[in-house]
Amino acid sequence: PTVTFLGPSGAARAVEARAGDSLMAVAVRNGVPGIIGECGGNASCATCHVYVDDAFLARVGPPNELEEDLLDLGVSDRRESSRLACQIAVSEELDGLVVHTPDEQR
Ligand code: FES
Repeated sequence: PTVTFLGPSGAARAVEARAGDSLMAVAVRNGVPGIIGECGGNASCATCHVYVDDAFLARVGPPNELEEDLLDLGVSDRRESSRLACQIAVSEELDGLVVHTPDEQR
């Protein structure tokens, strides 16, 4: 599946992902700016905060309990579409997924 990361300035970065990868791992592996993944995907750092594009919100689904707590701590505004990229598993159903990266991570 292909995933596109859109930066705050509108710069798009489309990358090829493997199904089952976390979106954070995909971003870090490809050097996508704005996603740090400090805790290695344990839902404990919030530096993988992304905004899921409206068109994919329903398919990606709501944050889990771990994310709920952390998203409130992130440096960037929390929005309806806020998710932690490490808690999103890439799948064929999410092919074409678009997420927006925040201005900065904590
Ligand atoms: Fe730390 Fe996602 S990588 S919360």
